[in-house]
Amino acid sequence: MIEIHNIHKSFNGVKVLNGISGIFETGKTNLLLGASGTGKSVLLQCIVGLVKPDIGSITYDGKVFTNNKLDLKQEIRRKIGMLFQGSALFDSMTVEENVEFPLRMLTSMSRGERKDRVEFCLKRVGLENAGKKMPSEISGGMKKRVGIARAIAPNSSYLFCDEPNSGLDPLTAIKIDELIYEITQEYDITTVIVTHDMNSVMEIGDKIMFLHKGNKLWEGGRDNIMDTDVKELQEFIFASSLMKAAKKVEEELGSLEDITSIADNNDETAAKAENNTPDSPKGTERYLRTNAGGDPPGSPDMLV
Ligand SMILES: Nc1ncnc2c1ncn2[C@@H]1O[C@H](COP(=O)(O)OP(=O)(O)OP(=O)(O)O)[C@@H](O)[C@H]1O
Ligand SMILES: [Mg+2]
Repeated sequence: MIEIHNIHKSFNGVKVLNGISGIFETGKTNLLLGASGTGKSVLLQCIVGLVKPDIGSITYDGKVFTNNKLDLKQEIRRKIGMLFQGSALFDSMTVEENVEFPLRMLTSMSRGERKDRVEFCLKRVGLENAGKKMPSEISGGMKKRVGIARAIAPNSSYLFCDEPNSGLDPLTAIKIDELIYEITQEYDITTVIVTHDMNSVMEIGDKIMFLHKGNKLWEGGRDNIMDTDVKELQEFIFASSLMKAAKKVEEELGSLEDITSIADNNDETAAKAENNTPDSPKGTERYLRTNAGGDPPGSPDMLV
């Protein structure tokens, strides 16, 4: 669990974060949601120690991170894995070498142990045959997978992802979201994801913090976000005509959860829905996602 308390940050006298507090829970995907320029990435950078907050404290599983001794900070940093926006792979290294990099830097593993760990992590993200490739030879979705493998390689307890879906088509985005969600539960890690993607919210938003102009205006989960009475959040959610339509359907037919469970449990409904929805356990949410923005669905290739 990560706790942040009263985080303030200004750049050149301009306030970017205005006293943000909250808890990011272990085993859950915690989302930092908000419009562009609202301070999401700066908050993430404060939490991982890349930017120093002007005021405020950050605690990792009861251990204070801010203003603490260097060795204690480093102990926490060793447990942090980060998936950067754009993946940030080393172009001159193979996929394997990229994943091995934090093991060389942060652990005392032998060469054989590192090789096994790299193999395990690449397999876990579905890239067991891509180890010898260079980053320039793989797709954007595969790069995200390599970034995730690299982030979890040193047995990280905390995973931070800045816009893991940026630049991906809707179907690839779903697979990356699902992978992060599964890994979070499987290894019981604390995951914090920066996003402005409503599809991610509906798919993996266990816990959501909504930021607006450097303030936290709302927090909750995907189950109650549609019912918010915070005006700025409503405007954010219903900016797209698709979400407006979804809200209308919800009001007319019952909650999205109800609709989803009907679709899941009723063969006839599921069969009818097949034209529009992949065979997901979260049919309605998936429908929203794959149709979001009217983009044509991308390649259903496993290795995205
Ligand atoms: N190092 C910096 N120096 C000065 N200003 C900065 C710095 N980093 C961020 N900012 C400013 O802080 C504000 C918030 O930026 P931030 O990157 O956190 O936005 P964001 O919510 O992540 O937006 P996006 O969704 O577009 O990535 C912006 O106005 C940005 O210009
Ligand atoms: Mg950002």
